[in-house]
Amino acid sequence: MSNDFPELGVHPDNWTRKHLLTLEELSVEELNILLDKAQIFRNAFDAGNRKHSLLTSHTSVTLFFENSTRTRTSFTLAAQRLGASSIAFTASTSSLSKGETVIDTAKNLEAMGCESMIVRHSTPGIPRLLSENVNCCILNAGDGPHEHPTQGLLDILTIRQHLGSLEGKTVALVGDIAHSRTARSNIWGLKKLGAHVIVCGPSTLVSPYWEKMGVEYCYKLDDILTRVDVLNLLRIQFERQNTKPFPSVREYAALYAMNKERLRKAKPNVLILAPGPINRGVEVTPDVADGSQSAILEQVSNGLAVRMAALWLVDGVRRKEKGLI
Ligand code: NCD
Repeated sequence: MSNDFPELGVHPDNWTRKHLLTLEELSVEELNILLDKAQIFRNAFDAGNRKHSLLTSHTSVTLFFENSTRTRTSFTLAAQRLGASSIAFTASTSSLSKGETVIDTAKNLEAMGCESMIVRHSTPGIPRLLSENVNCCILNAGDGPHEHPTQGLLDILTIRQHLGSLEGKTVALVGDIAHSRTARSNIWGLKKLGAHVIVCGPSTLVSPYWEKMGVEYCYKLDDILTRVDVLNLLRIQFERQNTKPFPSVREYAALYAMNKERLRKAKPNVLILAPGPINRGVEVTPDVADGSQSAILEQVSNGLAVRMAALWLVDGVRRKEKGLI
């Protein structure tokens, strides 16, 4: 390993995962390793140290079967900034349309020589399935409504930077809880790190079921505004719904859009997050999205740091397996 970045330290012995599939399965120690390493990458980025030679003999493939702006670009840049090569596989122009399975597709890409695959698919569990069928590192970039671990981590890293410890903080996830992988990854991560989580949205998208995950649920955003330290505003996942969860977007916005009036009623320093893409005027109004309490673009920068940390950590396990470090 090149020693161009001593602040990062050696690959930690207590990180033993070759894949990053969920936050549900991570321990508090593993979450903290990821967050701490991501913070080191973030600090280096801010100091202008943006390119490293840590993964120079690594090829990473983004295997996306669903659309993406941030996650795909961010993983691609993360790989490149670690010194790796990154290539993009596009499902719509591939042999999948000729009947090839996802597993065969992945095995063929691996046969060409790649060390990691970044996988996004509409079916929950596809990243895990691939991790059981190929030898390279698999990182889940969103599997249907199930999990989106790097999104959860970048949200948590952003909260940590603003509020310090997560312990005792109250975080509300607002919107389409039922279909949101961001919500699930946030809940697992936040709960493990000691935060109190509230899920809030229409009764068609939020239910008492969520109490089983150890979170509070509520239907009225106005009822919780004075109690929350963070509001994470989730997009309505229309593409994952067969029925209309509310009569119209206008009615949804009237009850759940974070706007100036609601911001005035909230705690003075409430932190506004959104995973993006944001629908201006639906889950958040432009003045709030672009306002001083919004950390939406900071989340995007942190995403790069989180993905660099994740790639470096899982690749270290792969290299240890091969006797390369
Ligand atoms: C999220 C996703 O794809 O799950 N976006 C993202 O990765 N930044 C959230 C969403 O699509 O609403």
